Amino acid sequence: MAEQRLFDNLTLPASFDAHVHLRQSHLMRAVTPTITSGGVDTVYVMPNLMPPIDTVEAALNYKAQLQAICPDVTFLMTLYLCDKITPEVVRDAKARGGVVGVKSYPAGVTTNSAAGVVDYAPFYPVFAEMERQGLVLNLHGEVPSDRSNDVNVLNAEEKFLPTLALLSERFPNLKIVLEHCTTRKAVEAVMEAGENVRGTITAHHLWLVVDDWAGDGLHFCKPVAKTEGDKRALVKATVEGKGNFFLGTDSAPHLLGKKKGVGLDKCSAGVFTQPYATQVVLEAWEEGVRTGLVEKEELAEEVIEGFLGKWGRDFYGIEESKKKFRLKAGQERVAESLAVEAEGDVIVPFRRGEQTYSIEWV
Ligand code: NCD
Ligand code: ZN
Repeated sequence: MAEQRLFDNLTLPASFDAHVHLRQSHLMRAVTPTITSGGVDTVYVMPNLMPPIDTVEAALNYKAQLQAICPDVTFLMTLYLCDKITPEVVRDAKARGGVVGVKSYPAGVTTNSAAGVVDYAPFYPVFAEMERQGLVLNLHGEVPSDRSNDVNVLNAEEKFLPTLALLSERFPNLKIVLEHCTTRKAVEAVMEAGENVRGTITAHHLWLVVDDWAGDGLHFCKPVAKTEGDKRALVKATVEGKGNFFLGTDSAPHLLGKKKGVGLDKCSAGVFTQPYATQVVLEAWEEGVRTGLVEKEELAEEVIEGFLGKWGRDFYGIEESKKKFRLKAGQERVAESLAVEAEGDVIVPFRRGEQTYSIEWV
């Protein structure tokens, strides 16, 4: 537990979480109501469902389902980049509203990504139309593992960075987000890229390193957490990144059985942070101050509110929220689990059992 309680009684505007997985059916009904307990009122919802969200119709149906569960949350939708996404679909998405971007998953790198991208060039006409229409391109920035070329989960992000540079130069007015940056090199690449590029940083990557997930499925996610040096670079980027990075938790709930790998199955990738999205970031900053990585003075109101909401909202062109919450450093602890009764299983939140801030909407 961090010793310093820097944010007790602080009132903040609602956070914007620019990368969430809310799933379908029973999981969706269990997870979606936890958005607000994490201090968030606006979320950008990932499309890697079964089947993937690859039509505007499907995205708007999904949005309606989520909205019915949480009428007070704003759900921004995205499409799954695949050969069904054409320039015409992009124009239709823009015209109908609700869909603000397109998410690219390289084929095979993560949960439900089998239908993902192998080669970016065939999508250039789609990117050009997105550039004209102002839709955001969200990149899962990893190349697929390839033993013959020594590509693996530890260097897959770094090897993707030339593609980021290439796309941002070829489409200088296309808004591009490098999702869930996990390395110092990714931070540098975003800083060096054009004005059209931003990076999201998750809450859990401000805490985790390789050793945390080796042997512990609950901490296994894609991209995997890297070294202590990388983790520090991420924490630094949240406060020193000059608005180039904002929160996208990549909260990715899986049933505990799937995280532990049922029978001989492999364990599913994803860390669940949704119910404490804002708190996990604030507590990482406190830890940064405690360990000397971050100066207290760096955590100015502009930075806290910027990373947690304003910088992301500005990039996506969404209005600032009028909702606010107050933080209380009391006795609350992160829940041990979230029940999904219809599945007879639970989802385990990140930092289970740890002391955490309480959030009161004001
Ligand atoms: C995500 C999921 O479970 O949907 N998993 C993860 O580890 N982040 C997929 C993704 O965003 O890569
Ligand atoms: Zn994700």
